[in-house]
Amino acid sequence: MNIRLIVLIFALINVNFVEPVRSNPDEKLTVPAIISRHGYICETHTVVSQGYMLQLHRIPHAKYDNAVPRKTALLQHGLFGNSAHWILNGPRNSLAYVLADAGYHVWMANIRGNRYSKGHAWLQKDSQQYWDFSWHEIAIQDMPAILDYIKGLKSDSEIAYVGHSMGSTILFAMLSSRPEYNSYLESGVALAPMAFIKDIESPIIWLSSTVETVAPVEMRHGRHEFRPAVSSYVSDFVEPCTPEHFRTSSCKDMLFSLCGANERQFNSTLLPVFVNHLDMSTSWKTLQHFAQELDNEGEFQLFDY
Ligand SMILES: *[C@@H]1O[C@H](CO)[C@@H](O)[C@H](O)[C@H]1NC(C)=O
Repeated sequence: MNIRLIVLIFALINVNFVEPVRSNPDEKLTVPAIISRHGYICETHTVVSQGYMLQLHRIPHAKYDNAVPRKTALLQHGLFGNSAHWILNGPRNSLAYVLADAGYHVWMANIRGNRYSKGHAWLQKDSQQYWDFSWHEIAIQDMPAILDYIKGLKSDSEIAYVGHSMGSTILFAMLSSRPEYNSYLESGVALAPMAFIKDIESPIIWLSSTVETVAPVEMRHGRHEFRPAVSSYVSDFVEPCTPEHFRTSSCKDMLFSLCGANERQFNSTLLPVFVNHLDMSTSWKTLQHFAQELDNEGEFQLFDY
């Protein structure tokens, strides 16, 4: 088997990384706590969509200027993410803070099922029904609910939508299936966009045939939630994912082959912070939806039942 694939599989099941020597307070804090620690205000808002209680984090204004911003931005994270992904590089290098200081109301959404949006009004979190969704439902139900909520608070302002990876998939799916929401947006920005995915280079594609085999069984009989089992003995075989070992360890190979290699853009001091804010929990159906697209020459399509 390809060594990179083995490393990738280990990485997916080995989310229990070795404790770092020095610790950065952001490792253990929640998004609102991290934002407050850096001197900004963070509010938490809850939008209910099909019973899912979606948490939005909002920075209402700039750090040193209390004036009410005139512009609004909504940031949507990607697969295995949450709102933390917009703030972890700190005030100077993270989009959420930069936009707040540039005069935006900054909203950060969290998709159903991630650590901030786990709640549901009536479904049990380990039930098949709870995890019966892919990015389609997020695009068709949740994102319109979020846009309605933001519009309701500040009806005059058009919204700049910024989606990373699956966050852009959600945007494209919503705008094509519910075109009335085009008028809510001033602009749509797609970072590492994902719609037609024929040309994807990440080794994650090697997992797609596995996903297509495993997902239907898991969705029906197994754990309906995709959450890689945390297994501590595996860490004996993988070199530690700490800043001290980063340059020499397989951790770096794994991250760079998965996410793209760019040493200059990657602050390895923050590695333990990034690792602690990964949100691996999602639905099998989300992964299967992407796998079906890869299997069909990267076509941008509805879930195939
Ligand atoms: C990396 O992050 C640490 C911790 O926030 C910070 O002190 C350091 O300046 C950052 N390095 C670079 C090159 O940005």
